Amino acid sequence: MNTKHIKVNSKDLSDLDMVAEAVRCGELVAFPTETVYGLGANALDGEAVRSIFKAKGRPNDNPLIVHISDISMLEVLVAEIKPDVQKLISEFWPGPLTLVFHKAPYVPDETTAGLDTVAVRMPDHPVALELIKRSGVPIAAPSANRSGRPSPTLAEHVAEDLDGRIAFIIDGGACRVGVESTVLDVTSDPPLILRPGGVTFEMIKQVIGRVQIDKSFIENRMEEKPKSPGMKYVHYAPKGEVIVVSGREEDVIQWVRQNDQKDEKDGIHSVIIAASEHIPMYNSKRSMSYGSLANPEDIAANIFRVFRECDRIGAEKIYVESVPREGIGYAIMDRVEKAAGGRAVHI
Ligand code: TXA
Ligand code: MG
Repeated sequence: MNTKHIKVNSKDLSDLDMVAEAVRCGELVAFPTETVYGLGANALDGEAVRSIFKAKGRPNDNPLIVHISDISMLEVLVAEIKPDVQKLISEFWPGPLTLVFHKAPYVPDETTAGLDTVAVRMPDHPVALELIKRSGVPIAAPSANRSGRPSPTLAEHVAEDLDGRIAFIIDGGACRVGVESTVLDVTSDPPLILRPGGVTFEMIKQVIGRVQIDKSFIENRMEEKPKSPGMKYVHYAPKGEVIVVSGREEDVIQWVRQNDQKDEKDGIHSVIIAASEHIPMYNSKRSMSYGSLANPEDIAANIFRVFRECDRIGAEKIYVESVPREGIGYAIMDRVEKAAGGRAVHI
């Protein structure tokens, strides 16, 4: 298949009519959102949705998020909207919060992977909103990467993974948030965070008072010694071996420096991904900044791009400094730890 690449900006969205037509015809289109690029198809067309799984190489027991541009679209997808949930919608939509509802009967099984719930969000991006609106249908969209790879935050990332497999790639520039939306199950009481993301635990708590998050996201999941890979499944991962390092700042820097120097001697191409504040202390050409600790939102926005950069330069081993577990830090650590697949060192 010949993938058409188009560039849009919020002032000229006229090309979107062509893409919207493709969505209505059951084709796959990649589009920018404020979190990461999505790979979209008509959420109400089971066959179109099946082709998303095929293009990504995604296991078909993993349900998709349905993207809407208007609240009237929600009412036809879900069974009920509770008052607390209404509050969350008013506060955070459009934005990086996905809500899991009991589904309405005709949402296809392909979209929900056979579950009786459906995940919905309204993205905060003019291109995404306009595409959904012009399509006239809700759009099911996972992140537009091949399964297991880092999520795409630039159109080039989508092309790396999916060129030739989909009808359109819409280039709308870099994604602002950089990590995927928070997934909040509002069918459970209190609501439960299934995936930390752009809207934080603290932000949700402030609006509805009660919210739960799985302990595994909050606690330090790292072990004293590196664990063998394969304990958890690897996701969001660059090709090199990712090792997450946590502990006191100076200890982390010393441990990573020693290991990096040993790797260099052994002819292993390793890369250090660290806070901009720490880069001078490593004094290594093999270090790369993921942004400043003073601005964890920037780290979220950069992390997947930096992972893909490691692939481009052929990194075999990637040491990543951990970030504090608070606010957006939960989401960053979740992605970094999944990329590491359990390889973690606490100094
Ligand atoms: O920011 C995002 O959410 C991006 C952009 C494109 O919107 N999309 C995204 O989709 O990250 P994906 O498919 O990569 O992740 C969807 C997550 C998965 O963890 C999936 O298991 C969960 O949402 N999910 C979807 N439907 C669900 C449901 N009915 N119940 C529980 N979890 C669900
Ligand atoms: Mg994904």
